[in-house]
Amino acid sequence: MSEIRKVAVIGAGVMGAGIAAHVANAGIPVLLLDIVPPGAGNRNIVAGTAVEKLKTADPAPFMSPKAARLVETGNIEDDLGRLAEADWIIEAVVERLDVKQALYARIDAVRRPGTAVSSNTSTIALEKLTAGLPDGFRRDFLVTHFFNPPRYMRLMELVTGPETDTALAGRIAGFADRVLGKSVVRCKDRPGFIANRLGVAWIQRAIVEAIDLGLSVEEADAVMGRPFGIPKTGVFGLVDLVGLDLMPHISASLKAALPPGDAFHASNRDLPLIRRMIAEGYTGRKGKGGFYRLNRAGGGKVKEAVDLATGEYRASVKPEIEGLARGDLRALLSREDRIGRYAFRVMAETLTYAASLVGEASDDILAIDEAMRLGYNWKWGPFELIDRIGGAWFAARLTAAGFTLPPLLAGLGDRTFYRIADGRRQALSPAGTYADIVRPEGVLWLEDIKLAAQPVLKNGSASLWEIGDGVVCFEFTSKGNSMDADIMALLGRTIDLVEKKYRALVIYNEGPNFSVGANLGLALFAANIAAWGEIEKLVEAGQQTYKRLKYAPFPVVAAPSGMALGGGCEILLHADAVQAHAESYIGLVECGVGLIPAWGGCKEMLGRWQSAGKLPKGPMPAPARVFETLSVATVAKSAAEARDLLFLRPTDGITMNRYRLLADAKARALALAENYTPPKPFEVVLPGPAGKVAMTMAAEGFARRGIATKHDLVVAGELATVLSGGPADIIDTLGEDRILELEQEGFMRLVRTNATLARFESVLETGKPVRN
Ligand code: NAI
Repeated sequence: MSEIRKVAVIGAGVMGAGIAAHVANAGIPVLLLDIVPPGAGNRNIVAGTAVEKLKTADPAPFMSPKAARLVETGNIEDDLGRLAEADWIIEAVVERLDVKQALYARIDAVRRPGTAVSSNTSTIALEKLTAGLPDGFRRDFLVTHFFNPPRYMRLMELVTGPETDTALAGRIAGFADRVLGKSVVRCKDRPGFIANRLGVAWIQRAIVEAIDLGLSVEEADAVMGRPFGIPKTGVFGLVDLVGLDLMPHISASLKAALPPGDAFHASNRDLPLIRRMIAEGYTGRKGKGGFYRLNRAGGGKVKEAVDLATGEYRASVKPEIEGLARGDLRALLSREDRIGRYAFRVMAETLTYAASLVGEASDDILAIDEAMRLGYNWKWGPFELIDRIGGAWFAARLTAAGFTLPPLLAGLGDRTFYRIADGRRQALSPAGTYADIVRPEGVLWLEDIKLAAQPVLKNGSASLWEIGDGVVCFEFTSKGNSMDADIMALLGRTIDLVEKKYRALVIYNEGPNFSVGANLGLALFAANIAAWGEIEKLVEAGQQTYKRLKYAPFPVVAAPSGMALGGGCEILLHADAVQAHAESYIGLVECGVGLIPAWGGCKEMLGRWQSAGKLPKGPMPAPARVFETLSVATVAKSAAEARDLLFLRPTDGITMNRYRLLADAKARALALAENYTPPKPFEVVLPGPAGKVAMTMAAEGFARRGIATKHDLVVAGELATVLSGGPADIIDTLGEDRILELEQEGFMRLVRTNATLARFESVLETGKPVRN
């Protein structure tokens, strides 16, 4: 077996179904099997129902309808023989050793020898899973532990046994990395591996200490969240999210599996409150409520939280904790009050436990940090946190508090776990020496490059970096990577420079979002002082810069991840190629804030739909299709969906693994640089005023049904004007520049309306436009 062309997943529960969906997202056909319930008429009902549920789940497990079609369902009675078709068989049935083992014997009887078989177990050691099974099976067996939800959680823990074929494990790791986009963390064969063992210990400790020290759930979450770079759900909010009922299972399983002296046990306590909540159906967001709930009684919507002392719900209160926002961890951990003692006790236990797991659950600190970053969305892993706190200071505090330091912490002294030496990132090894952090082949980090270099160009909103082989990378550095005049100015200088000195340009950054669009704050400011000329200049600067990018004599490759909205989407539309991270959310959302795309977004979308060959002939179908997408500010929920909407072209690439995006984009740019010729300008035939009437009628229909507002109609009217080709009665062919003029005119009319400015204001204040 050299390649994985087909995957089988057994167990169509929460995890199995989600894993199957994600394998399909990668374009790989999957066979999903579950049991035949007694007396079932439809023998595939369990797997079939699971897939149907996936299609409507939110957040969506599937990246596109096409992916959904790649999952075939069946059952383990009639279809077991079909496991021979699979190159990788993933077991995701209930967490019971006897059930899993009985299944393995049946799998082994039908699979092709050499086919990888893996378990998604969260807590059972591989050694136990394979006990008593044939040698051949043990050679091909490993643990591949995905996290929930499998599409979105980037971590996959991988465990091999002493007998596992290393080449086979390498193939699975490579497939999980490149094809499924996971960050594969190798763990030792210890109960709970890394993320659950440490994460559950942290959760238990954070709950127990909150109860003992008399903190409210809101206080605990405020302390255990943001200050430590942990999502603001903190700990109680997180338990609500994953489900209160899941916790006792994992805890019990870990308790049973870990040796008596393990520090895990110290935080594992029976909590009657949680037992009662689960018994009464208060299992978190999926149940009647959790530590928090929205009380809708009496038609209202009151946020409530559980009083940890009485177990009763009460109105939720935003905690006022002085000094928390400063982010000074030492100050927080040194506070003498309940808040400080809470922070110290939880982090002292959690971080020393993390240090004790090096050598026990992982080979190094890197695996533990990555597992906590990706498995729990911590901004910093435990060792990065210790560096931020100050290792020597923390160790002294721990010793004073009576902790026995794990060797790794005891031997740290004044050093840090991570350091930068000669422009390279290094980590402290368990042996006590520093070693370079080596990125795998095909992984390129702008962060790494920046350590050892100065930007070629730079201003307040963007920088330009050399990334090797004659390629430069343009990075947005503004807030939210929003587009502004400085970005346009630096892009202009970049184009001049690349023309003279470089082979290709990549537009990429390592923020959570590629770009949230134009800076509305600046636009609102300009509008408030009636600086219409400034706004007009920015529209024009954007149009001209993007046009120059498109026709530059060198290739431009844009590489988005996360949101690429408005002006951030328009820059993609003008690139020669896009290499998009699979989790890219692309859209022209201008209409939502009372504008129309005016940096060539309407123009490029018209050009694309007209030449795509997907629509009937004639001047009307392309504008109508673009109108449909833009008037309601559609955002594609994946790169695959963006392809269907033509925000991406069929030739644009998709990279599943975020870590591989820059290297993939650079490779694409270099390939394009061979014999590069810029694209030719296009012309379109548009339907004129008659077409505009047809488009606005659709919007009026929405208004009648209460879906569109008064100002939506005004905006839709302007959009329809551009897309139909403007006021001219008889329409010929229109060139790109004429459409740009129409975009600019419509934009300027809209930006002068109070209703549009009210939308800007509300976006800036609440993140959402008012529906006016
Ligand atoms: P689940 O209870 O949602 O689904 C289990 C599925 O397995 C059910 O559909 C059941 O009908 C099926 N099943 C049971 N015995 C079977 C058999 N002999 N053959 C075929 N199908 C059988 O469980 P969930 O949560 O999906 O967990 C599955 C595995 O993944 C467990 O090992 C669990 O520890 C692990 N896991 C769970 C996570 C979670 O967040 N739920 C996260 C990571 C791992």
